[in-house]
Parts: sequence; C-alpha cells; structure tokens
Amino acid sequence: METEFKAIHLPTWVRSARQAAPLASVVTIGAMGNAGSTSPSSTTPALRFNDVQFSYGRRPIIDSLSLEVRQGELLAIMGGSGVGKTTLLRLVAGLVRPTNGSIELLGEPLRIDDQESLYALRKRIGLLFQFGALFTDLNCFENVAFPLREHSRLSESLLKDLVLLKLEAVGLRGAASLMPSEISGGMGRRVALARAVALDPELILYDEPFAGLDPISLGVTARLIRRLNDALGATSIVVTHDVAETFAIANRVAVLAPSERGARLVALGTPEELRNSVDPYVRQFLAGDESGPVQFHMAAAALEDDFL
Ligand SMILES: Nc1ncnc2c1ncn2[C@@H]1O[C@H](COP(=O)(O)OP(=O)(O)OP(=O)(O)O)[C@@H](O)[C@H]1O
Ligand SMILES: [Mg+2]
Repeated sequence: METEFKAIHLPTWVRSARQAAPLASVVTIGAMGNAGSTSPSSTTPALRFNDVQFSYGRRPIIDSLSLEVRQGELLAIMGGSGVGKTTLLRLVAGLVRPTNGSIELLGEPLRIDDQESLYALRKRIGLLFQFGALFTDLNCFENVAFPLREHSRLSESLLKDLVLLKLEAVGLRGAASLMPSEISGGMGRRVALARAVALDPELILYDEPFAGLDPISLGVTARLIRRLNDALGATSIVVTHDVAETFAIANRVAVLAPSERGARLVALGTPEELRNSVDPYVRQFLAGDESGPVQFHMAAAALEDDFL
C-alpha cells in the first residue's frame, strides 16, 4: 500500500539548533526553498550541457550534446540499452570528463581538475546509481545517516531527527532499525531514495530507480520521486525504461539514440509531445518494438564466422 508522502516540516527547535550547528547549510531540509513548487522556474538552468562529446578511449559514446535542464524540472532520459545514459549521469556527477564541450551545474562550471570545487558541487547533488544497493551491514537508519555523517558535523540528536524525517518522507520510519535483508526490494529502494536526498540536494540523479520493482512498487517509487523533487525544491534527472510511469511524472523527456559518432538527442519534449512524435526512434522506443532503427544486436562478425 502506498504511504502518503508527508511534507517535511522541521519543528522550530530543530530549525534553531540547525542554524547553530556547524555546516548546517549542508542539511537544509526540504520544507524550505521552493517547497511545494511543481512548475519549473525560468532562472539559471540547474544543468547545461554545451556541445558535450564523450569517448571511452577511441570509442565515441556521446555526440555533441547540448541540453538545458530547468530548475524544478523532472527530466527523464530514455534510450536503448548501452546508448550512454549512465555515462551521461557520470558526466553530470563529475566522475568522467567531457572529451569536448563543457557542463554547467547549478550555475557553476563543472571543473573536474579542481577537487575542492568538485567536492563542494557534489555535496549539492544526490545520486541513486544503477543497482545502487544499501550497505548490507548497516541498518536502514545508518544507511540514511551515512552521507550526513560523511558531510556534516551534526550532533547525534539532530542527526537522528533528520534521518527519521527522511525515512518518514518515504514512509519507512518504522523500518529504521531493520537490516536491508529484513525489508523487501521495493522498501530497500525507498530507503535508498531517503539516503540520496539525505543532504537535501539541489539536483538529484536517478539511474533506473524502477529496475526490478513490481508494478505497484514502481508506481509508488515514481510518485515519491516526483514528490521528493517538489518538496525539496530540487531538480531531478531520471534515467529509465518505464514509459508509462515516467510519462506520468516527468516535465520533459529526452530520448537518446545511437549513431556511429555516439549517442544523439533525437527527441526532447513533454510526454504529450513525445506521444505525438513521428520520429521512428521515438515511436520504436515507446512501442517497445524489436524491429526499427534501434538494433537489438550489437555489431559483430557474421554468426557463421564466429562458429567456424
Ligand atoms: N568504463 C567503461 N569503459 C569503456 N566503455 C564503457 C565503460 N562504461 C561503459 N562503457 C560503454 O559505454 C557505452 C554506454 O554505456 P552506458 O552504461 O552509459 O549505457 P546505458 O545507456 O546506461 O545502458 P543500460 O541501459 O544498459 O544501463 C556502452 O557501450 C558500454 O559498453
Ligand atoms: Mg545504464
């Protein structure tokens, strides 16, 4: 059953304690900022790709990508397996560097060489990586507490309140003392969401957050991602294959398709605009057809040659 998301309002005493706490700005909680906003604002984009190219060695992965993600927006990125979606998120997180072009993140240039500025920017980003699992030897509480312990110096009692608020936000405060092996996969994903937003990130990156979830958990998780985004006044980028759930929560959807020079953006628009698209890649992707411009088989030698 879906647990209703509760807006995260800090009690006054917690707020004043937080203001007094060192590094407290790191843990501004979701009830502040643009809390409750659902429409993207038109100020500086949260993310800008300026003609970004990326190759692994000599193998081109991303071809000249220019893209702006607006503040408050939930942008879905879709495309076939291996097209370069995870790579795109790795570029945003500063884990790999563009071969050409530049990236602006939260109004600042992303500079991988400058460790200090990269570290400061990373603190403002939440990550839920593909197959991102919980730490199996930590209970749910400690999993969510982990980034807070890493990045802030809050008192134990304040930390406890913040962790419980995050677990409450995903409907799992009652599971705080359980180990990951004692909860279901769908619940684990929600704890991972709570951990991803523990530091109240301004930008949240999700890599296939619905993978392996049953249809009900999938719907719950999708709506939770939308609500967390709005309650935090954040911007979210969600890489996913689940068309129906994604179209229900995304402001815009970007579709990547492979080419010899790397992935290209073949469509970018609202779910409605994509549904009406006549682009063959988009149509194939939305319909889930095996036949079409996207090849199911990776290029290889002829089958008979391989079996000689
Ligand atoms: N560290 C790496 N070194 C070399 N090539 C890599 C590396 N990581 C990924 N690749 C290649 O880059 C391409 C894009 O990979 P990526 O993981 O971004 O795809 P994806 O769109 O996320 O796929 P999926 O939907 O299956 O997760 C793939 O062809 C992959 O083989
Ligand atoms: Mg991937």
